Amino acid sequence: MQKRFFLNTVALGLLLAHTGAAMAQEKFKIGLILPMTGPFASTGKQIEAAARLYMAQNGDTVGGKKVELIVKDDTSAPDVTKRIAQELVVNDKVNVLAGFGLTPLALATAPLATQSKTPMVVMAAATSSITQASPYVVRTSFTLPQAAVAMADWAPNNGIKKVVTLVSDYGPGIDAEKYFKDRMLFNGAQVLDTLRVPMRNPDFAPFLQKVRDLKPDALFVFVPSGAGAALMKQFSERGMDKAGIKLIGTGDITDDDILNSMGDVANGVVTSHHYSASHNSPLNKKFVAAFEKANAGLRPNFMAVGGYDGMRVIYEAAKTTKGGNGEALLNAMKGQLFESPRGPMFIDAQTRDVVHNIYIRKVEKVGGQLFNQEFSTIPDVKDPGKTK
Ligand code: DHB
Repeated sequence: MQKRFFLNTVALGLLLAHTGAAMAQEKFKIGLILPMTGPFASTGKQIEAAARLYMAQNGDTVGGKKVELIVKDDTSAPDVTKRIAQELVVNDKVNVLAGFGLTPLALATAPLATQSKTPMVVMAAATSSITQASPYVVRTSFTLPQAAVAMADWAPNNGIKKVVTLVSDYGPGIDAEKYFKDRMLFNGAQVLDTLRVPMRNPDFAPFLQKVRDLKPDALFVFVPSGAGAALMKQFSERGMDKAGIKLIGTGDITDDDILNSMGDVANGVVTSHHYSASHNSPLNKKFVAAFEKANAGLRPNFMAVGGYDGMRVIYEAAKTTKGGNGEALLNAMKGQLFESPRGPMFIDAQTRDVVHNIYIRKVEKVGGQLFNQEFSTIPDVKDPGKTK
């Protein structure tokens, strides 16, 4: 009797263990690593909100498995991103890593993606070289060369012949400076100076003073998402606009997240980018309305759309592979072609980088609110930073 009880208990234990394993297997895990605190928290907030919206709209089961979204705050410190990624891969056994709010955070994690053969979906970081840091990287954000070249083609045709550039001194800023400058020179314009400010807590004042003295037709700026408001404020306080110096840049400086709070100084600023909350398509209108509804009126910015499209790429790959992982999951991400809230979007199978339209936009008041109004489209732009 006692022996049978013992055997039954063992059998039950085995059964439970087995069921437990089966249940664990039935999960499709997404490790979403984002800066949720610190100076780049708006990037994390936008991407998390977009990922949750995607799941609310598309269900939390994919390829026959239950989706588990594990969100972690890396505080925008590269060593923390890397440690969290390691824990997610080793302990949680995630199918895919995602997020990456800044270039250094993506670059710190890329070797781990390669070693562990874990697909890594970059939803925010935008330095060209990131996709070359690991064959497991797929990007759904954009690249600075895509945006910078478009602006350098627009400006000289619109009365801007002499410029100074001002960029954050790290990967995306250096990309923006290089591709903008080279294209401006190619187009016969002059670049009077190239200025770089620290990535964190920049004081623009001494640099803007220098720009005033140089008297260019325009100042071209790249700063990361969230930093645009401080730049605008100091640009206005220094009387740059009154001195007849126009402000142009990539759309990172007229970020939809904070555009309305920038006030009149932002009005009329022309930028180039892949996404505007006022992009005129039925799909985008639906996206913006749903995002605002789910987030107390918060307007989605280009970070949100990178996160939303990243989830689309992950979900479709999970469907194709029935909740797979490793190289199979990676391969199912390559070559995806779909309509995004930004417009048509393609994941180039060769480069694993995003191909999409770049729009030239002007900040205008619509219904009492500031928006980036798209007025010109450069279709299907590949990353000019890729040599092959
Ligand atoms: C990066 C970060 C940003 O916030 C942005 O707007 C563009 C690029 C980056 O670190 O790659």
